[in-house]
Amino acid sequence: MQPYLVVVLCIISSSKADINNKYFPESFQFGAAGAAYQIEGGWNEDGKGESIWDHFLHYNNPTSKVIDGTNGDVACDSYHNWQEDVDNLKKLGVKLYRLSISWTRILPDGTPYQVNQEGIDYYVNLFKALKQNGIEPVVTLYHWDLPQHLSDFGGFLNPQLADYFAAYARICFENFGPYVKYWMTINEPTSTCGMGYSMGLYAPGYTLIDGGMYQCAYVTLLAHAKAWHVYNDEFRAQQGGKVALGLVCSAQMPLDPNNPKDQEAAERSHLMGCASFGNPVFVGNWPQVMIDRIAAKSKEANYPFTRLPVFTQEEIDLIKGTSDFLPLNYYSSSLVEYIDELVGFPPNAWFDISVVTSANKSWPQAASPWLTSYPEGLRIILNRLNKDYNPSEFIITENGWSDTGELDDQGRITYIQAHMSAILDSILEDGVNVTGYTVWSLMDSFEWTAGYTEKFGLIKVDFDDPQRTRTWKSSAKYYQNVIATRCLLNQCE
Ligand code: BGC
Repeated sequence: MQPYLVVVLCIISSSKADINNKYFPESFQFGAAGAAYQIEGGWNEDGKGESIWDHFLHYNNPTSKVIDGTNGDVACDSYHNWQEDVDNLKKLGVKLYRLSISWTRILPDGTPYQVNQEGIDYYVNLFKALKQNGIEPVVTLYHWDLPQHLSDFGGFLNPQLADYFAAYARICFENFGPYVKYWMTINEPTSTCGMGYSMGLYAPGYTLIDGGMYQCAYVTLLAHAKAWHVYNDEFRAQQGGKVALGLVCSAQMPLDPNNPKDQEAAERSHLMGCASFGNPVFVGNWPQVMIDRIAAKSKEANYPFTRLPVFTQEEIDLIKGTSDFLPLNYYSSSLVEYIDELVGFPPNAWFDISVVTSANKSWPQAASPWLTSYPEGLRIILNRLNKDYNPSEFIITENGWSDTGELDDQGRITYIQAHMSAILDSILEDGVNVTGYTVWSLMDSFEWTAGYTEKFGLIKVDFDDPQRTRTWKSSAKYYQNVIATRCLLNQCE
């Protein structure tokens, strides 16, 4: 018996009793995920242009933006090591690999004026290698690395960005469409709009707390919808793929389940968070509570207009119905407490929502301060989204656990096992059509403001080694076994 199998069996036999002991359906696809800026490196190689993350971390005092003062200039160096990444994916046995395309590798200044053939070749070679190994790429067009040139035009504050994004999407569909069946347009807009345009923690670092987030949300939805229509009108008949917006959602649960005020606050927190992007795409327009509250709060602050951009009917129709599946990122959930209305100046998203969220103290804590483990929350939010949006299929496109990099990462095994168990409960007991799971992440990578201090990988990357050597952790071996047996325990029925 190989030594790692001994480790796997020990891990499995010590698993908790409430883990689902049924087999995953044959059609369910296991996978792993990553994103361009976090893994590729090669930030200015072979014609790649500058992105907002390159700019943000080259032109500011590094430690003022990232805890350890690092950046993604080299990261995992997947620009050079991609064949090894494919080998690892093959060894794991995955059928899906979620990755993102670096916009400035394809279009150095973001505009369709100049296409960089070397950038195209990089992804074509990667896609071909994946397909040859029976792995389906799940491709995100935008995982936060906007071309700096387009940011100088206002980025996601400028509605014209939607046209630039649609033009970029067309070039990707033309060149990569033959290899790709699942497209995600934009990853987690709640994060990038909130952190990038309101809190200033992510590139481009704007602190427009009164309205930056809403303008960014508006432009994001237009950009997503225009890209979806390009695919629908020009490529779908020939390529037959699916295109969707990537949501991050969690269960928002009342702190006191019997208190109607906490119940109302929890519902509001869901509607003004997850549903702020889900509703326009699946139902049409922002949720009504969001429209009403931001209008009222704007008025209180002497704005003669609402700070939430108002969609025209034409825009509502353009955006509605533009998700062919539901890519869901899920990490943790929140307890929501009702509080009196927050007022003050300048008005902002926190005042607009006016709730307090926290984690239950019994939920295990990861290395990332925002990440606690509550697997049941995944089942709750899947049920909710299934009821509200009834998508044809869900793929859990991110879910994972951070630690400080230990090779025997039992915390990660416990987390992913429990969350995959919740997915199995959703499929088998609630009848929710979850068809795939891409664990975050295949390997340790650049973790935005946390730099290389928080590790999410199944595979360790030695960031001190110029070769960026990869080493399998216990979780990779556990996941490999789950994929091989389609079972979370050492025996299923
Ligand atoms: C992002 C990833 C990130 C992960 C863990 C997600 O919000 O899409 O890029 O690494 O969370 O923080």
